[in-house]
Amino acid sequence: MIEIEGLSKLYGRDVFALEDFSMHVGKGEFVFLTGPSGAGKSTLLRILLCQEAPTTGRVIVGGRDITRLKPREVQTYRRTVGFVFQDFKLIPGKTVFENVMFALRILGVPDVQQRRRTFQVLKWVGLQHRANAYPLELSGGEQQRVAIARALVNEPALVLADEPTGNLDPDLALEIMNLFREINSTGTTVLVATHDRELIRHVGHRAVTLDHGRLAIG
Ligand SMILES: Nc1ncnc2c1ncn2[C@@H]1O[C@H](COP(=O)(O)OP(=O)(O)OP(=O)(O)O)[C@@H](O)[C@H]1O
Ligand SMILES: [Mg+2]
Repeated sequence: MIEIEGLSKLYGRDVFALEDFSMHVGKGEFVFLTGPSGAGKSTLLRILLCQEAPTTGRVIVGGRDITRLKPREVQTYRRTVGFVFQDFKLIPGKTVFENVMFALRILGVPDVQQRRRTFQVLKWVGLQHRANAYPLELSGGEQQRVAIARALVNEPALVLADEPTGNLDPDLALEIMNLFREINSTGTTVLVATHDRELIRHVGHRAVTLDHGRLAIG
């Protein structure tokens, strides 16, 4: 699913966020990215989402080199990726339901299907009873679950998450992680960046450790 070869990302003149980094992730795999602060985890996820271009290296996702996509192709590619980043911007003026359904609307999914699928996914994250609430009326963990629902509503082949359980208590973190495991069990490839060694131990999937932009343990 993902083949990264000799990936480097240089910021400014001398900050290598990633340096000659390589890794492979199989289709349907669940992989944690870990390592100390500043190791390059978020940079790697941003490159995988085409939010940032690498300095050198190859990044193949689903057989295509995503570093060579034209702007229009980037848009199409992003629609196949679900992402949950730390600054999960929910739209404050839209309800929970509208926030999630919006992801389908921009894809041009027929109206009836939009509603059905939005109900399904909100039920799945346990928030159907909050469908008409606004994001600011929700707790942090509930907002995080809405962001996950939004990322998954169009059934992406690949899910990228950057510290999706940051700021959550351990029980809630585990609950959120179980949602990712459930998605993974349907064949979706999942890549989750986290500092939380305890969580990784508990979940028990493969963990790739970065250190100063390099692969430390893979
Ligand atoms: N836009 C940027 N401009 C300059 N340097 C950057 C930029 N983004 C990241 N860096 C640097 O690149 C390195 C890797 O950062 P990155 O955010 O990828 O680390 P991280 O592993 O996600 O850290 P954390 O666990 O704290 O989130 C750091 O040294 C950081 O300061
Ligand atoms: Mg980070």
